[in-house]
Amino acid sequence: MRKALSIFLAVSTLLSVFACEALPMPEDPEKQNDNAANPSNNQGDGDETPNYEDANSKTLVVYYSYTGNCKDIVSSVTGLIEADVMELKPAVDGQDYAANNYKLGADLINAINAKPDEAASYPGIKTIDRNAADYDTVIIVTPLWHSHMAAFMQAYLFKYGSQMAGKNVGLIVSSHSSGISSVIADAKRLLSNATFMGDALWINQSNRGKQDELVKNWLTGLNLIENTMPSKIKISVSGKTIPINIENNDATKALVAALRETSITYEAKDYGGFEKVGPLGRTLPTSDTQITTQAGDVILYSGNQIVLFYGSNTWSYTRIGKMQYESLDELKSFLKAGEGNISVTLLL
Ligand SMILES: Cc1cc2nc3c(=O)[nH]c(=O)nc-3n(C[C@H](O)[C@H](O)[C@H](O)COP(=O)(O)O)c2cc1C
Repeated sequence: MRKALSIFLAVSTLLSVFACEALPMPEDPEKQNDNAANPSNNQGDGDETPNYEDANSKTLVVYYSYTGNCKDIVSSVTGLIEADVMELKPAVDGQDYAANNYKLGADLINAINAKPDEAASYPGIKTIDRNAADYDTVIIVTPLWHSHMAAFMQAYLFKYGSQMAGKNVGLIVSSHSSGISSVIADAKRLLSNATFMGDALWINQSNRGKQDELVKNWLTGLNLIENTMPSKIKISVSGKTIPINIENNDATKALVAALRETSITYEAKDYGGFEKVGPLGRTLPTSDTQITTQAGDVILYSGNQIVLFYGSNTWSYTRIGKMQYESLDELKSFLKAGEGNISVTLLL
């Protein structure tokens, strides 16, 4: 895959010198429209009637991800705002869209480009489980394929885009390096009745390291952050960062509001053989109840102390959330359980 990507990148860089964002083309031009001409060659389709799940929030994030970059972008988004998430999956499993210098991916895009108004030009996707019409805002996260929107996202929008009529739609595009103007054009063609919010966000190889910050600025610019509570915050100790799934209560609302301004770093000490406790440096609203804690719990004690549990204790506390970890051993090593003080950073 890595070798194929470097060949593809070398070829696309060369071609782009001559033609803006040019990409490798299938060798036999006759074959370019095979998918359009022959729907049976068209990757099948999950044609059952969708059985939609109820919407839990006002925002839907829809994504397709072949190699994981868009999935990672979705994590950045859902770390900051509350949203339901729907992943699109090709109807046919196990295809290698990057094989033979990205031939299959190119064929799918070329078929759409040849006859964009015909349903048969679009590859099949598995049955979807969310109805975009149930949401106020839809965020589309898609890879760029051959300068265009990835074929499976185009297939979804062609088939279900009418669910987004009148909705606010945001677009995030992930590419290696190619510019995203044709992806934006695809989105506008496929969602002619939606209201696009601001500019699309472009994540690529050279800015991926700053992805969290770029996503945060983009969401803030669209006024999506202020209005919604995230489902997660993050905790960082000694350079390692893991998510905390948070409660939705007055304490977490105040904590998230503080973290929107800046991250919070404090010193925590080991206590009782079951926790790391330290002063947050501010007071949060409490709703204390008698709780028997479990490993992973993040608890507010006395309104101004954060307790990170790797064991159990029963006391009157306010729940903040739960650290997401693989195993108790991993959690204990993360918190340096039973050892000295640690510097803890909480962040969005
Ligand atoms: C079939 C295919 C075609 C691609 N075409 C391009 C391209 O034209 N320009 C580019 O910069 N990246 C291209 N890429 C790279 C992807 O856009 C990039 O790796 C993206 O981050 C992938 O997102 P994902 O990991 O969520 O699938 C292509 C990838 C595939 C699989």
